Amino acid sequence: MKKLPFNKKQIEEIINDFPTPFHLYDEQGIRSTVRELKKAFVKLPFRNYFAVKALPNPAIMKILYEEGMGMDASSLAELMLCERVGITGGNIMFSSNDTPSSEYKKAKELEAIINLDDFSYINYLEKTVGLPELVCLRYNPGPSLNESSESFIIGKPEEAKFGMTGKQIFEGLVLLKKKGVKRFGLHTMIASNELNINYLIGTATILFELAYKVYKKAGITFEFINLGGGIGIPYRPESQPVDFAKLASGIRNEYEKIQKKGLSPFKIFMENGRVITGPHGYLITRVLHIKNTYKSYIGVDASMANLMRPGMYGAYHHITILGKSDGAKKYDVVGSLCENNDKFAVDRQLPNVSVGDILIIHDTGAHGHAMGFNYNGKLRSAEVLLKTNGKTKLIRRAETVDDYFATLV
Ligand SMILES: Cc1ncc(COP(=O)(O)O)c(C=O)c1O
Repeated sequence: MKKLPFNKKQIEEIINDFPTPFHLYDEQGIRSTVRELKKAFVKLPFRNYFAVKALPNPAIMKILYEEGMGMDASSLAELMLCERVGITGGNIMFSSNDTPSSEYKKAKELEAIINLDDFSYINYLEKTVGLPELVCLRYNPGPSLNESSESFIIGKPEEAKFGMTGKQIFEGLVLLKKKGVKRFGLHTMIASNELNINYLIGTATILFELAYKVYKKAGITFEFINLGGGIGIPYRPESQPVDFAKLASGIRNEYEKIQKKGLSPFKIFMENGRVITGPHGYLITRVLHIKNTYKSYIGVDASMANLMRPGMYGAYHHITILGKSDGAKKYDVVGSLCENNDKFAVDRQLPNVSVGDILIIHDTGAHGHAMGFNYNGKLRSAEVLLKTNGKTKLIRRAETVDDYFATLV
């Protein structure tokens, strides 16, 4: 279990400045993870494009960009966030699906790399905004995957709405070339929260083999191959983080193998979000009520509106009670939504909890605040950055009731 980057006194001081609930992000931890990933891949022409959807906050994006990452945007708003931080051109990968032309227009204006999710989008893009010089296509390997995934989020590729078949990839590339496109990229995203290194390396094998087939059949080569995101994190205390060095070395083997076969060098991209910021975020929330009925409930001032993963996927997030240790009693930790899945934990062994205690919900730095919503009129919380100098900075204020009413006509 990773050590918390703050102590009890620090959290108490932070809570004096920012009322609970809020997400707290550890800048030092984020920077260290980026550096570790870069170091592991140093022998490859590698770059990670941070999946903006994981933590769409300009302050965080700026840190990641400073550390050399590109941005993977999936919507107009995420493209605009990149623009706001001063990130443009080949530093943005635009991987969207079911995309309106207005979004392609913005991507083209920013000269982002456009990644097409479907064969039919080739004509759509051409007609609506024109084809850029560089186009990437998103592959869905369907049932051809043989290594079974530990991932519980993405499921079977053939059931996923994303990407196109191998045949469509081939035909799409030939068509794009005919239409004057000069540079090509290849992409897939078949892992999510994946801790199995073989599965992650398998993604590289699949894409490199496909690239080789395309080259043999159509003479098309690739400027880059994007292996997608999906490196998992150890949400559970007993899980181990992915060994970046082993992952990089496995991918390097595949890279060297395919080059020996005759495929010319290409850049290797990934678009991880979770592994970059996930472990460095904490949802800080206070106990409002203890309720004892058929079970014991800890009612906190955060709800599923601030962190949806446990309610949506039954996902595990570790919980620490500030200043208390050792599990003594089983509780369900719940929010105030009128939904019975508004639970951060079920039957969790925790120390004896009292009203007013501070709970730290771990690993909320990716797909946490970002998935927030307003059901029951619940408001999204603030986001606070714990800077490398130990000081804090508010990087997103909490929503107010006025924000909730702002869209009413
Ligand atoms: C296309 C695409 N790329 C990257 C990601 C990032 O995944 P992760 O944060 O698990 O690395 C996602 C997640 O939903 C995605 O849909």
